[in-house]
Amino acid sequence: MIYFDNAATGGRKPDQVLTAVQSAVRVCANPGRSGHKLALTCARLTQDCRNALNDFFGGYGLDRVVFTKNCTEALNIALFGALQKGDHVVTTCMEHNSVLRPLYALKAAGIITYDVCPLTGEKGEANVQAECIRALLRPNTRAVVVTTASNVNGAIPDLDKIRAVLPEHILLICDGAQGCGHLPIDMQKTKIDALAVAGHKGMHGIQGSSALLFSQRLDPAPFCYGGTGSVSNLLEMPDFYPDRLEAGTLSFPAIISLLEGTRYLTVNGRRAQNKLTKLTKQLLDGLATLPDYTAYSALNPCGIVAFAHRVYSPEYIAQRLSDGYGIALRSGLHCAPLMHEALGSLDGGLVRASLSHFNSEKEVELFLNALQEIAREKPRGSDFF
Ligand code: ALA
Repeated sequence: MIYFDNAATGGRKPDQVLTAVQSAVRVCANPGRSGHKLALTCARLTQDCRNALNDFFGGYGLDRVVFTKNCTEALNIALFGALQKGDHVVTTCMEHNSVLRPLYALKAAGIITYDVCPLTGEKGEANVQAECIRALLRPNTRAVVVTTASNVNGAIPDLDKIRAVLPEHILLICDGAQGCGHLPIDMQKTKIDALAVAGHKGMHGIQGSSALLFSQRLDPAPFCYGGTGSVSNLLEMPDFYPDRLEAGTLSFPAIISLLEGTRYLTVNGRRAQNKLTKLTKQLLDGLATLPDYTAYSALNPCGIVAFAHRVYSPEYIAQRLSDGYGIALRSGLHCAPLMHEALGSLDGGLVRASLSHFNSEKEVELFLNALQEIAREKPRGSDFF
């Protein structure tokens, strides 16, 4: 199988991640609960992971790194935790439903209002502009919520420029699902107040490993209530982080995978990124020579290449690639409907190949050949857009 669906979840993990997860699954204790040696070791490694993430993303301290089961949960904690009645929010049409649906729910409950920044430019050049975000700010704007990279076409909003047009008091909340592990992100330098990190994509962890990093300007309320192994005599949740947001047993195998994934990136990140960029360029260059296909991505560090065929539906292309060639990728709306609306691809979406540095030039070549062969096939009527 050729796995080109790394934006959905990283297909192959580094050996050191696999080894760590295997040993954690074989034997592990509950970090932060019991006082025996194994529990203490797991607790120490859990702190090591907080430390590694805090260093990697220029975070605001170990107590401000909270483990979650996915990036969506991290975003929900940040949005429901940061926003209050009467607040206004500016977000963008590049966002995933992990941002759009919580905001919509908060609006439907009469808690917030929000505006959506449109795209400037077309296809691969499409992006959101800081000036456009600035134009939507109101006196009661509490937060700007923006992705670090579009999961549809890999476009990267300029977070430094966006932060620069925001008055100091406005929170900058970022969805790091696609950008983390691929982009240099320094929360303190860019003044990002909250960063939702997906562990199982560019960070090379397993599913279930994710985190929210947040500044002292946010005071999120608990999203889930229960045991924390701390101040257990109280019926209220602890008033300190990370415990306040970490009720119930954490997934130690997921945390250890995120620790090793982060360590892997610290040592190999630059080399991996160079290879991924080279493969992405090879794919985009090859696609440009196929007259029946149109790319909706420019070269990007996330390895995302979205495209459409002149007549075949994205679903058909993805199905043919899977059935006929064993190539795995994702087609459709990618849970980002406003981005497709803005790109003009709402009807059927796009085909999205998402590479990792574990892929090879040979795989990209086979993929391009497969696209060429499919374009030569005689379609049935139902396979058209
Ligand atoms: N959000 C993930 C994707 O873009 C699942 O495929």
